[in-house]
Amino acid sequence: MKNYVLTPGPVPVPEFVMLEMAKPIIHHRTEEFEAIFSKATEGLKKVFMTKEEVLILASSGTGAMDAAISNTLSKGDKALVINGGKFGERWLKICKAYGVETIEHKVEWGHAVQPLQIKEILKGNSDIKAILVQASETSTGVEHPIKDIAKLTKDRNDIILIVDGITAVGAFPVEFDNWGIDILIGGSQKAFMMPPGLAFIVLSQKAWEFSKKSDLPKFYLDLTQAHKNSLKKTSPWTPAVTLVIGLNAVLGYFDKIGLESLFKRHAILSEATVEGFKAIGLENFAEGCTSTALSVIKAPEGVDASLIIKGLKEKYGMIVAGGQDQAKGKIFRITHMGYVDKGDIIAVIAGVEGILSELGHKFDSGAGVAKATSILDKL
Ligand SMILES: Cc1ncc(COP(=O)(O)O)c(C=O)c1O
Repeated sequence: MKNYVLTPGPVPVPEFVMLEMAKPIIHHRTEEFEAIFSKATEGLKKVFMTKEEVLILASSGTGAMDAAISNTLSKGDKALVINGGKFGERWLKICKAYGVETIEHKVEWGHAVQPLQIKEILKGNSDIKAILVQASETSTGVEHPIKDIAKLTKDRNDIILIVDGITAVGAFPVEFDNWGIDILIGGSQKAFMMPPGLAFIVLSQKAWEFSKKSDLPKFYLDLTQAHKNSLKKTSPWTPAVTLVIGLNAVLGYFDKIGLESLFKRHAILSEATVEGFKAIGLENFAEGCTSTALSVIKAPEGVDASLIIKGLKEKYGMIVAGGQDQAKGKIFRITHMGYVDKGDIIAVIAGVEGILSELGHKFDSGAGVAKATSILDKL
């Protein structure tokens, strides 16, 4: 049976990227690798929509989240954390580990934060040094309104906006320079359609000013060191050579198809999935604020989502993700990032229809596939 990895990270990697990474290893302190490294950082600037240097870290996304805090804040600083899911929670945990004080703004799962509420919190707490938020909260499938949040911080020198764009960058536009974001993070195993192992992070000039005053401990993920080295086309430590080579293949492909068509592709896959499931009565979890990087679908009333997930794996070889905490057993999550195409989306909807029939759930059989197929024709 074929394996379909349809989780919102790691995602399927195209063959042309795997083949590029299968080539013999090269040494990193060479002109050959320096050219590869600098080509990658230049290519990343386009995807991050910035003129600033995008740093490549040998870590998973969490490493860059950790670095964002340890490099810009100080012990006792106050940060406003937007917590609307598991990754919002992660910001809280990292702050706690570093002794950064937090004001937690809880957002109901499946909903986006309201910038007006942030504005009110900032009014009452003029000493907040940073806002920490996800552009795409992968545990709920919500896109938070980063552009509007940035309007609250971009003209102030005493506060930075730190955005986890791990399932946003490359999937939909997050305009770092134009919107005035201060830190933006991406991850290789998401829309960059690569294996896990690289994180990307970019800092605004304001964030670099913050870094000069930051007193939190840092060594391996000292971004000032990474920045200095990156400007010299290298990294302070041994880089993940093979992954950087793969990254260049991906960025070359992005260049060829253009960012607009990349974003449009995610949007069409998202619309087809959401509407396909709606046609068989399954609701979208993040109505009105859907991240196009993934679909988070509610299991029908009375059906445990874990049975759908188990059935997909055992019967069709399809791996999708479940929900955590309050969403456990209630939702399943499907990627639109990575090497995912029309056939994958049609197959997973057909698979869910098959499992639901077996479970005795009544619905208009075939309607999900028919609806999705009609939308996927736009691709
Ligand atoms: C929005 C978001 N933030 C952070 C992370 C953590 O990244 P990693 O698992 O690469 O450390 C993920 C990974 O799933 C994510 O989707």
